[in-house]
Amino acid sequence: MKRIQYFKYGSPEELSLADVDQPKPGRGQILVHVKAASVNPMDWKIRSGEMKMMSGSHFPRGLGHDFAGIVESVGPDVDQFRRGDEVFGATTIRQAGAFAEYVVADTKTVGLKPSNVPFEQAATMTVVGSAAWLGLIAKAKLRAGQSVLITGCLGGVGRSAVQIARMQGAIVTGSCGASGRDEAQALGVREVNDYRAFDIGSYRRRFNVVFDTAGALSLRQCGAMLKKGGMSLHIVPTPAKMIGCLLSSRHHLVFANPTPESFAGITEALEQGILVPAIGRVVPLSEAIPALVELEKRGVPKG
Ligand SMILES: NC(=O)c1ccc[n+]([C@@H]2O[C@H](COP(=O)([O-])OP(=O)(O)OC[C@H]3O[C@@H](n4cnc5c(N)ncnc54)[C@H](OP(=O)(O)O)[C@@H]3O)[C@@H](O)[C@H]2O)c1
Repeated sequence: MKRIQYFKYGSPEELSLADVDQPKPGRGQILVHVKAASVNPMDWKIRSGEMKMMSGSHFPRGLGHDFAGIVESVGPDVDQFRRGDEVFGATTIRQAGAFAEYVVADTKTVGLKPSNVPFEQAATMTVVGSAAWLGLIAKAKLRAGQSVLITGCLGGVGRSAVQIARMQGAIVTGSCGASGRDEAQALGVREVNDYRAFDIGSYRRRFNVVFDTAGALSLRQCGAMLKKGGMSLHIVPTPAKMIGCLLSSRHHLVFANPTPESFAGITEALEQGILVPAIGRVVPLSEAIPALVELEKRGVPKG
């Protein structure tokens, strides 16, 4: 089968589309025939070696985590999936390998795909949807009428967070590039800010929740914008944020490790059309490497 892989951490030039043996699912795993896979910033952060503490040093490595497809076979001790099931999910950081014809994944990070949702849409949702769900619902327990600031509100996680916050009946303020104003308003962001001119001072003590999906704010800046009892959520960890979140009950790191509850939540929201991703471009696996490079280096296409 074909897969995108690399033999050492480094630049995009390390990537190649190779012929490899089809992997076999182990205990608690399934083999999925990939119909679509999507790109996350972590794909190039891992390839560059930035996350090697978590991704390990086993090579050659596949690339890509988020996928949707059809179960080809199941490993020992798997009784919740059968060959032919339509599924979506993500590999763990160590496993990777979704940019391939077949991928092995742990059953705990895979769910059944709603039949009314195309593979391309479902393939975008596990990483960003889990981050948004685990932050706003599991951690912040966001409720109707509460106010939330979402930075990067048109990014993968930010867009999902806006949709989940609106589902909860929260009032959303967001930041994005200046050209995204109309799109953010259409998504349900009540006050849209150009992030290059974002005035933290005008939002003192305004929010129950600040969700910094862009990694653009310090803990101090978030704290200044929180109401009493409010909470800030962070998905782009820096050493300062890790320490600050450990020492404070107001600031929290969020990791997109799906739980059965978050998977059930995003599956239902996908099925009901509440979670709808923006898909910038779809390319076949044979054209994926130049598309990945363009997205990493130039940030296009959006979505
Ligand atoms: N902890 C976890 O488990 C986890 C899970 C998922 C993602 N992440 C991380 O979270 C970050 C966002 O992921 P993503 O998938 O949402 O990325 P994305 O789709 O690239 O979105 C990032 C968004 O942030 C916007 N942005 C850039 N600088 C900004 C600023 N200073 N203020 C406000 N917005 C700004 C970008 O707008 P422009 O394109 O207009 O610049 C873009 O829309 C990445 O660093 C990713 O690695 C972590």
